[in-house]
Amino acid sequence: MKVILITGSSGLIGSEVTVFFHRLGFFVHGVDNNLRSVFFGPQGDTRWRQKQLVDSLEFFHHHELDIRDRQGILELVKKLRPAAIIHAAAQPSHDRAAAIPFDDFDTNAVGTLNLLEATRLYCPESPFIYMSTNKVYGDLPNSIHLKELETRWEYDDSNYLNGISEAFSIDQSKHSLFGASKVAADIMVQEYGRYFNMPTCCLRGGCLTGPNHSGVELHGFLSYLIKCNLEGREYSIFGYKGKQVRDNIHSEDVARFIHAFFMTPRCAEVYNLGGGKDNSCSILEAFALVEKCSGKPQQYSYVEENRIGDHICYYSDLTKMKKHYPGWNITKSLSQTISEIVDSWQERMKF
Ligand SMILES: NC(=O)c1ccc[n+]([C@@H]2O[C@H](COP(=O)([O-])OP(=O)(O)OC[C@H]3O[C@@H](n4cnc5c(N)ncnc54)[C@H](O)[C@@H]3O)[C@@H](O)[C@H]2O)c1
Repeated sequence: MKVILITGSSGLIGSEVTVFFHRLGFFVHGVDNNLRSVFFGPQGDTRWRQKQLVDSLEFFHHHELDIRDRQGILELVKKLRPAAIIHAAAQPSHDRAAAIPFDDFDTNAVGTLNLLEATRLYCPESPFIYMSTNKVYGDLPNSIHLKELETRWEYDDSNYLNGISEAFSIDQSKHSLFGASKVAADIMVQEYGRYFNMPTCCLRGGCLTGPNHSGVELHGFLSYLIKCNLEGREYSIFGYKGKQVRDNIHSEDVARFIHAFFMTPRCAEVYNLGGGKDNSCSILEAFALVEKCSGKPQQYSYVEENRIGDHICYYSDLTKMKKHYPGWNITKSLSQTISEIVDSWQERMKF
């Protein structure tokens, strides 16, 4: 049986990829220490998802390990010599990072280095797939000329008709401490690819979402918005008139891309991974879609000040992904994804 190692295995992406590879006949080793509940409090707890995986997957082993534990990571990779490393553990919040800079950098940057070096030492041929973020572009996307439409902002520049490509600069803009720690990791993953000729890739995510997210106000836009809708709780919009645009991709489509890369890996690649223009929406548009699905009105308040460095309009240009992996495409529409998240919260709220 082929063995793979997935970090952040109780989180949204890690757990989706765990189930995906398990279904394909892999023995999956997951690393997660529920640090999300430390970052975000009990609402961010991912133990429920860990329990689901342990209870339902025969060939899954959970490791209660911190990726900051260098020795622990080196020993684990040495023992397993996995056929792939899918690295999805992180401090994932743009806004939270400023309050916990050491935890943020140690997890995002140093934790990634621990995994990269362990991979180089013990299984350098194995694909290393890193979940990066579109926040590596900092707030530079906000310098693109925009036009204001009734419910959203939109690019007013023909260079961005398909969204933002990997050629966009990551330099000289405001990233947030989270964006900066992810840049450090992103560059390191690329460097291990180029310098050591290892099959690495960085997936610069837009809004990754799905029914298994433990969404909180500071991370997990759609998941949290839907939770507020179902609980009749007020959702706070921060600036930009609620017309800020994000592209949303279902975690299953993320898992499918990771598998495609695993099957035909390349060295030091970078991809912008999001729902693309078709799966993009503004916050106001998300309210309307969720209300239609749940039948409940969205309660919200408006705060004039935007989040520091928040994107006004961002959607990923998927051209490069589709060119390199023509068998891959988005399979889940935004409304389908929303409906799955609504169902999942309704189920989880019963307990
Ligand atoms: N969800 C998004 O919208 C989004 C967007 C862009 C990029 N990303 C990136 O994708 C990756 C996965 O995101 P997600 O939404 O699944 O996050 P998540 O918070 O749902 O999952 C991450 C998991 O990693 C675990 N973890 C955190 N620090 C750890 C540590 N030091 N040691 C061991 N485990 C640790 C957490 O407990 C959590 O279960 C992250 O790298 C994130 O930055 C996510």
